[in-house]
Amino acid sequence: MSAAELQVEGLTKYFRAGGTWFDRSRVHAVEDVSFSLRPGTITALVGESGSGKSTVARLLVRLYAPTSGRVLFGGEDLTQVRGRRRTLAYRSQVQMTFQDPFGSLNPAKTVRHHLARPLRIHHVVPHDQIDNRVHELLDRVGLVPPEKIAAKYPHELSGGQRQRVAIARALAVEPSVVVADEPISMLDVSIRIGILNLMVDLKEQHDLAFLYVTHDLASARYVADTVLVMYAGQIVEQGPAEQVLSEPLHPYTELLLASVPDPAAGERDKIEVHKGLAAAAVDPRDGCRFVNRCPIAIDVCSKITPPLVEARRDHSARCHVTAPSPLV
Ligand SMILES: Nc1ncnc2c1ncn2[C@@H]1O[C@H](COP(=O)(O)OP(=O)(O)OP(=O)(O)O)[C@@H](O)[C@H]1O
Ligand code: SF4
Ligand SMILES: [Mg+2]
Repeated sequence: MSAAELQVEGLTKYFRAGGTWFDRSRVHAVEDVSFSLRPGTITALVGESGSGKSTVARLLVRLYAPTSGRVLFGGEDLTQVRGRRRTLAYRSQVQMTFQDPFGSLNPAKTVRHHLARPLRIHHVVPHDQIDNRVHELLDRVGLVPPEKIAAKYPHELSGGQRQRVAIARALAVEPSVVVADEPISMLDVSIRIGILNLMVDLKEQHDLAFLYVTHDLASARYVADTVLVMYAGQIVEQGPAEQVLSEPLHPYTELLLASVPDPAAGERDKIEVHKGLAAAAVDPRDGCRFVNRCPIAIDVCSKITPPLVEARRDHSARCHVTAPSPLV
């Protein structure tokens, strides 16, 4: 049976922005976000710090409840799933890995414990086959010899090995979708490529759908089939990775691409939170959220919010100039 597609429709999450009781301002961390994750593909979700990427990731695995919107999987709205049994079933379909694998592993427990636990909770294999499955999982993520690795504690592993254990743990429950939030950003440059290659192997061999969350466009170009670009809570551009990254429609994507350093030039420039970015998502008014940073803004940009328009086949952007809507 082929795996189902995960569809996100109009997903929205607001947080209180102010620290005091009187301050009713809200940050529109994720607003009206729609996309789908197909089996056997990697979708990169890119954007600067604070653009809402992790909030999307957390909404997909139900660490947050959405303000509105739906997440459909196999015809079921996952935001409405209730009850322990059905919640467990959903959790086994959509798994997440985190930026800091060390933080998500218990330092007092062995690798075997971390992988055996989900196998037991989700009754993936009979009890007497748990050890075999643990070894299979370690082998699948390139941690060999599995018997030796299984006996180790997190501090006895390198950063790359820990991220592989985190991925193996996500795979233990045989998910269809894996949401990987910045899986390589804390790793040495030399071992990042191994994790990226592992994601590609897994999507090809196991028909997995990945949502790869990153602020690193070079890695998105390397692994992704589809790219979603987020700015201040909204998707501002989406389409096939090759096309979005070689012929971007949105001025923000252009800005991100321009800030990708030349590998020959050494140390990577870090894209930092931009004041305009955070402010643009707090009680936003009508108009384009990128207007204060945009080099090609026109009059209408500060008055009317640009809709996401399919300006090229399967390639959409939210821009009055480069993807104008016939309705505006
Ligand atoms: N639990 C929360 N409570 C209040 N505000 C939040 C919460 N989580 C996120 N935010 C706000 O929502 C916005 C988006 O945050 P998010 O963590 O999703 O961004 P991000 O794109 O993942 O950034 P980074 O690249 O730094 O991880 C930010 O303005 C952030 O301050
Ligand atoms: S809508 Fe206007 S301000 Fe926004 S990106 Fe396009 S040109 Fe720039
Ligand atoms: Mg994040």
